[in-house]
Amino acid sequence: MSELTDARILAIESSCDETAAAVIENGRHLLSSVVASQMEIHARYGGVYPEVASRQHVLSIGPVVEQALTQAHLSLAEVDAIAVTRGPGLAGSLVVGLNAAKGLAIGAGKPLIGVNHLEGHIYSSWVYADSGHKSDIPAAPQFPLLALLVSGGHTELNLMTGHLTYRRLGATLDDAAGEAFDKTARLLGLPYPGGPSVQSAAETGNPFAFRFPRARTDGAWDFSFSGIKTAVLREVRRMQANGVAIPVADMAASFQAAIVDTLLAKTLAAAREFGVSEILVAGGVSANKALRAAFMNQAEFKVNIPKFAFCTDNAAMIASAGYFRYTQGDRSALDMDVMPTWPLSS
Ligand SMILES: Nc1ncnc2c1ncn2[C@@H]1O[C@H](COP(=O)(O)OP(=O)(O)OP(=O)(O)O)[C@@H](O)[C@H]1O
Ligand SMILES: [Mg+2]
Repeated sequence: MSELTDARILAIESSCDETAAAVIENGRHLLSSVVASQMEIHARYGGVYPEVASRQHVLSIGPVVEQALTQAHLSLAEVDAIAVTRGPGLAGSLVVGLNAAKGLAIGAGKPLIGVNHLEGHIYSSWVYADSGHKSDIPAAPQFPLLALLVSGGHTELNLMTGHLTYRRLGATLDDAAGEAFDKTARLLGLPYPGGPSVQSAAETGNPFAFRFPRARTDGAWDFSFSGIKTAVLREVRRMQANGVAIPVADMAASFQAAIVDTLLAKTLAAAREFGVSEILVAGGVSANKALRAAFMNQAEFKVNIPKFAFCTDNAAMIASAGYFRYTQGDRSALDMDVMPTWPLSS
């Protein structure tokens, strides 16, 4: 057993189509992170096929956990607690990770900590991998901060005044940002997964070629992305009707610019309004190069964005969030159930 602040957390994540395990020390220092992706399998279906996902988790979970411990050079007895994603996500996928975590906790006599997947995304900004130089350790995010969560199923702005506290200021009224990328990719005939393929198509496109709408939700901190997607659809249909070849790169670049502008403008406005000095961006869409550049290029606020590898689903982020819950005395019962829908804050 380590001192509380040096605690080592073994975490499991299986909320969607990634089977992942990781070990983190002191909430930030990554000892190992293993992700078994099912992306190629689901690409055949153009999206995640839930039953296939849960059965793949069954196959991968044992080897992935074993590998995470091996890479960390630790035995199960040497970790202090087991953290696991409890939700939100696909029930059949969550169950596999949760039951594996319960087995490990019982077998090794370690505490079990259920973690919200969205909280995990936020805590990915605390994770760092060792370079061997103390001076390379990035500063931890400082409170109060404004957290923009942009993932496949969620888009929301939360004010954090301390660890594990969230005041939701606003959220998307329709599609999540990642969902908008995925749907637009389909409209443009780009392959699954949509976000990365829109990004690479956009690289050779002109972001000013089309002026897609920047939805205003005045007076509120909410977002709306369905209008942008519908505008793309209308343009595609118009061109098809006229027998015009679709300028995929220009449309992808213009769509991406509309999403990035919308996210940046609202986040900056909220950051000013609530007097924070730092912004945090998290979730799969934070892997987007244009989004990262837009946030990093403004000089008003310090921006925390996870390292690329920790933007999409992984277990390092669950281990980090699990650590802060562990040090606060948070423990879950062995009869804990999954929570397929579980808001970060109510
Ligand atoms: N480079 C990118 N540009 C834009 N979007 C991206 C990029 N990379 C990933 N995404 C999007 O991120 C989403 C996946 O993120 P993430 O893994 O966090 O979602 P999820 O776990 O399915 O949903 P949630 O976290 O809301 O439960 C997908 O919608 C994907 O298209
Ligand atoms: Mg996710």
